[in-house]
Amino acid sequence: MKIDGFSRRSFLQHLGATGAMAISASNASAMGVGAIEGQATNRPLSAAQKAQAATRAQRMAWWHEAKFGMFIHWGLYSVLGQHEWALEVEGVPIAQYELMAKHFQPKPNAARDWAKLAKRAGQKYMVMTTKHHEGFCHWDTKLTDYCAPKQGPGRDLVREYVDAARAEGLRVGFYYSLMDWHHPDGARCKTDEEARKSFVAYTHGLIRELMTNYGKIDVLWYDVDWPLTAEQWESERMNQMVFELQPEIIVNNRNGLPGDFSTPEQHIEASEAGRAWEACMTLNDSWGFNRGDDSWKSTKTVVSNLATCAQGGGNYLLNIGPKPDGSVPSETVEILETVGKWLDSNGKSIYGTERGTFSWNSNANYTRRGNTLYILQNYWPGETPAAAWLTYYQPGTVVAIGGLKAKVKSARLLKTGQNVPFVQDELSLRLTSLPAKAPDSPSTVIEVECEGEPIVDHDSIRPLWQRQKVGIS
Ligand code: GLC
Repeated sequence: MKIDGFSRRSFLQHLGATGAMAISASNASAMGVGAIEGQATNRPLSAAQKAQAATRAQRMAWWHEAKFGMFIHWGLYSVLGQHEWALEVEGVPIAQYELMAKHFQPKPNAARDWAKLAKRAGQKYMVMTTKHHEGFCHWDTKLTDYCAPKQGPGRDLVREYVDAARAEGLRVGFYYSLMDWHHPDGARCKTDEEARKSFVAYTHGLIRELMTNYGKIDVLWYDVDWPLTAEQWESERMNQMVFELQPEIIVNNRNGLPGDFSTPEQHIEASEAGRAWEACMTLNDSWGFNRGDDSWKSTKTVVSNLATCAQGGGNYLLNIGPKPDGSVPSETVEILETVGKWLDSNGKSIYGTERGTFSWNSNANYTRRGNTLYILQNYWPGETPAAAWLTYYQPGTVVAIGGLKAKVKSARLLKTGQNVPFVQDELSLRLTSLPAKAPDSPSTVIEVECEGEPIVDHDSIRPLWQRQKVGIS
C-alpha cells in the first residue's frame, strides 16, 4: 500500500479501516522504487542534515547487518487489551482511561523475557514504546506525573527495558509518539501558538530526558507527527539535540524530516537505492495487546517477509504486544522461536546481505552477499509428474531459475552443506538431483556461488528463446 498523496492521519485511518496487509514475498513490484513513508525527502538538505548524512554509513552499519528487530507495543492500552487505538477509536473519556494508569501493574523485569525471546528469535535490536499516543510515559520523567514510577507500576519501565536488552547484547531503540491524546495542548497546539510553544517545549524536554538518562541509545523511532508540521515541531532543533546527546544514534523519518531511514508500515516496499528502510509489521493485526485478535501470521509468512526485506536491502521490525503483566502471548513465543531456529541454520542468507536486483519468483525469495546468491525456496517443487516427459525437470527434483545473469561456480544446501549438481545455459540455471521432500522448513535455502553479481532478470531471456511455430501437432 503506497501512501503518496495521503496525509499521515488519513493513512492511519485507512489502515484501520482495511486492516493490515502485507505484500507477499512473491510480489516483485514490492521491491521496486517506492514511496517513502510520509515525509518530504525531496527538500534540499539543511546544514545539520548534511552533517548527519556524512556520518550515516558509519552510524547505520550495525543496523544494515542486523536486518531483524523486535518492536514492542506496551502501555495502558495493554490493560484494556483492545488494540492501542482504543482510546480514540472507542471515544473513551480521558478521566476514565486514566484509571488504567493505577491498574497497570506489570511483573518486575518483564522485559528480560522479551529480550531473551528476541535473542532466540534471531533479532538483533529492540524498539519499545516509551510513550504511545495515549501520552503515558514509561520512564521517570520530571515533566508529568502520568508516568510509570508515579502510577501503578511504581518503577521506571524504560530502565528495566534498557537493562534487559543490553544484558542480551541487543541494540536499544526508543519509540516515541509525538501525537499525544492526553496532554491538554496535544490538539490545540495546532491553532493556539502559546499551546504550541509549551507543547513543543514539553515534547523536546521528554525526548531530552530519554536521550540523557539511559546511556547509549541506538535508535530513536518517532511516530505520528499530527497535528504539527516539521517547522512547528521544530524538528530540526529536535534532531540536533538528539545527535548532540547521542552522536551514534539513528533516527527514523516520522518527525517530519527524512532522518536516516524510511518506515513502510504493514507492507514491504523498498525505498530508492541508497536510502535505508525498515518495514514494521504486526504479528497479528494489532500492535498493542488485543485479546480477541487471533490473526497470527504463519512462520512461513514471517520468514518470507524477512527475506523480502533483505532482498531489497531493508530491515524487518516485527512487533510483539505483551499482556499488561508483561508476559508474551504464547502464539507469539511459538512463532518467534520457530523463526529463530530457522535462522540458526540459515542466518547466512539474511544477516549482512545486500540489496539485489532480482525478478519476481512466486515460489522463492532471493538474497545475496557479494557474488553469492541465496535461493530461499518457500514452496518446494517436489517431483512433478511432468518429469515423465520433460527432461528439463530431470533428474530428481529440479529448482530452476530463468534469467540468472552470472556464471555459477557451485551450489549447496545451506542447512546440510550437501553439494547440489547444476546445469546452466544462457536461459536458465537448473539445480538438479534435489530430494523430493523439502530439506528444510519453512524455507529451504540453496547457496549458489557465482562469478559475478547474481542478477536475476527475466527480461534478458525473452529475446533469446528459440521460439517455435504457432500451432503444434
Ligand atoms: C501507527 C499506529 C501506531 C503504531 C505505529 C507503528 O502509527 O498509529 O499505533 O504504533 O503505527 O508503526
